[in-house]
Amino acid sequence: MRTESFRGRDFITLLEYSREEVETILDLALDLKRRFAAGEPHDHLLRAKTLFMIFYNQSLRTRNSFEAGMTQLGGHAHYLDPEKIYTPALPGREVAYTTERVSDVARVLSRMGHAIAIRCYGDPVDWIYGGANEIIRNFAYWADIPVLNMEDDKYHPFQALADILTVQEKFGTFKRVKFVMSWAYSPSVHKPRAVPQSAIIAATLMGMDVVLAHPKGMELDEEVLGACQKNAQSYGGSFQIVNEFEEALKGAQVVYPKSWTAVPLFKPPVGEDNPDKAKEIFEANKDWICDKERLALADEGAIYLHCLPADRGFEVTDEVIDGPQSVVFDEAENRLHVQKAVMALTMR
Ligand code: CP
Repeated sequence: MRTESFRGRDFITLLEYSREEVETILDLALDLKRRFAAGEPHDHLLRAKTLFMIFYNQSLRTRNSFEAGMTQLGGHAHYLDPEKIYTPALPGREVAYTTERVSDVARVLSRMGHAIAIRCYGDPVDWIYGGANEIIRNFAYWADIPVLNMEDDKYHPFQALADILTVQEKFGTFKRVKFVMSWAYSPSVHKPRAVPQSAIIAATLMGMDVVLAHPKGMELDEEVLGACQKNAQSYGGSFQIVNEFEEALKGAQVVYPKSWTAVPLFKPPVGEDNPDKAKEIFEANKDWICDKERLALADEGAIYLHCLPADRGFEVTDEVIDGPQSVVFDEAENRLHVQKAVMALTMR
């Protein structure tokens, strides 16, 4: 296992990691998972190291998996609420004695610990698409220690690692696995695009046959779609986009229906700053729910994925998410193992 390339690196998107590096992360994650299950101590890996976690948004899985992961690796994860520190802000969005410039926060924390992890999307950047990614990039520019993306408005790379690790565990291969990333209905239009975008990047990187299904108006970032096309060409899989839910599910091995917002919600130039128009698109597609009949269109051995939290009764029925094909809790657990792997590799 070649690990030298990881030391000190930021982890913001899988687009900045090679397939070989992602395979190394998955290998180490499986090893750490085995050691955790066997009760084998591995707290020497990041002993006395500190991870600073800044959460602009709520979280169950991400916060607890990073915190538990750092404890298990022998270090400590420090939770920072942006409202209780001086909120890290970029020039142009500063408020005297309320915010602190990102460049200053990044340099202070770099003197005291070993990585900075950030979650930021949506309201904290007024739904300006890319605004949160810009904050994380600015942290990375100024920090002397790795910056880890715990979900921004473009990418959720740790979720994607957990998704593909779960697929690898269930099928033992990525080859000829049909991976359907689908939009699903939610009563809330305030849903970032990071999960589906990172999922299709990861799935195409591993060479799966990836189908992205969504109603018209729910298009994802063109740059991400272009990267997926390139991945498909490079790694022997395929990538297609369809506007039909049931057709997409036919013969799938992986079914991943998840809500994300409609483009008009974002501020110009990407969107129209029009939540009502976004809501209209959502309401016209209420039938995009993963129920037993739809799941039956997939392969008999298909698995159901969801990053959680799920909007039960809207994105998915209880019968499906609590049913035998659902692997959502394995997927949630895998957040712990992949994050420990990345931290162990980058924070040494
Ligand atoms: N999937 C995920 O990131 O969950 P949290 O929002 O609970 O962290």
